Amino acid sequence: MFQKTRLRLLWAYLGIFASILSVFAIAVRIVFVQTMTNQVVDKLTTLGQTVAASSGFKNGRIQVADNLSVQDLDVRRQSLQWIDIQGNTILIQGNRTLSLPSVIRESIQIQPSKPSLITVNIPIVDTYNRSLVGYLRVSQSLDELHETFRKLDIGLAGGAAIALILVGMGGIFLSRQAMQPIEKSFDRLQQFTADASHELRSPLMAIKASSQVALRYPEGMRPSDAEEFKSIVRSAERMSRLTEDLLLLSRMDKKLKVTWESINLTELLQHLVKQFQAQALEKDLTLISQSNIDLMIKGNSEQILRLFTNLVENAIHYTPSGGKITVSVNSISQWIDVVIQDTGVGIAPEQIEKIFDRFWRADTSRSQWTGGSGLGLAIAQSIAESHGGKIKVTSQLEGGSCFTVRLLAL
Ligand SMILES: Nc1ncnc2c1ncn2[C@@H]1O[C@H](COP(=O)(O)OP(=O)(O)O)[C@@H](O)[C@H]1O
Ligand SMILES: [Mg+2]
Repeated sequence: MFQKTRLRLLWAYLGIFASILSVFAIAVRIVFVQTMTNQVVDKLTTLGQTVAASSGFKNGRIQVADNLSVQDLDVRRQSLQWIDIQGNTILIQGNRTLSLPSVIRESIQIQPSKPSLITVNIPIVDTYNRSLVGYLRVSQSLDELHETFRKLDIGLAGGAAIALILVGMGGIFLSRQAMQPIEKSFDRLQQFTADASHELRSPLMAIKASSQVALRYPEGMRPSDAEEFKSIVRSAERMSRLTEDLLLLSRMDKKLKVTWESINLTELLQHLVKQFQAQALEKDLTLISQSNIDLMIKGNSEQILRLFTNLVENAIHYTPSGGKITVSVNSISQWIDVVIQDTGVGIAPEQIEKIFDRFWRADTSRSQWTGGSGLGLAIAQSIAESHGGKIKVTSQLEGGSCFTVRLLAL
């Protein structure tokens, strides 16, 4: 019963942790990438500034010797490119040059691929007349940096996966711990309901029997007293039904094993419709069964009968005189759908999800029919679910309701 809640708790726990972990990993990656890129830019800037400072000039133009040898230049990964103020290349050293168009200003350019490079443009200033004469483009391959980022990604993803597995295991333990007291108190409540219903049976039977005995000789009592005794019998009967319902629900909650057998559903429904025919006639209702082929299911016949009794009973109670109730059976692949359709008072859309709650009754139902307790649909749903099925409802206020019970075919 608490399996779903436990699972929801676990998923929520994992979801929150995964979100925190993702934010953390993204932040770590951003900071790491930024720091590493800044380090490379700083290194290239220092190298570029040293080389630019040692450039020679002639007539306001850069003069670079073709055989210039720059210390600290790693020709495999880095390159230097002197360009004049118009953007024309004067000299290139190293084999990593930017294929992107030249930018004639101090800037950092990143070429994402083929090959991936980072380039720093350093202005070259003629120290003699303090005029800008060109730029030195210092480039470095980003392959190594990308490899480092890739390793970081693998590390972060692997770490996150391991952390999630550990959190999942911790979550299972924690959700179990968190649910334990709730499960215990629910068990106690269930036991109490079962015990109380059981204990109430005998005194209720005694009240009913004594009142019936007293009613056997009504001539000896005042007419008003006889009415009182009749009312006692009716109330005792209602209370007996209620305690039986509560007992059944607590047994269903405990998932006590009941014997299952093959049930001819068509026959069971036809029989049920016949049984309710008199009650329907009394209310001037048309109650028909539309099922001809024999459809079989596996289950507990007593419970299945109870399920459909509750639904047909509701259809009769909540359909005004002159209405129509149809019970039909359809077979859809491995499922059997039993549809109970009425032309009754219907259920408001906002109340549909509440109708299966224990003791819930629409306000109109409370005033219309005092025989109900609000447990009928809870019992029906519990029985359907214990048989691997479910109940679906569609309804329109004043337009009738349609209850579909889906059960597994044999
Ligand atoms: N066929 C129906 N048409 C309209 N309302 C219904 C129908 N079946 C159930 N309901 C609503 O759902 C409530 C819960 O049904 P149920 O659990 O059987 O309790 P009860 O019949 O004892 O009131 C009812 O009180 C009624 O308001
Ligand atoms: Mg009912």
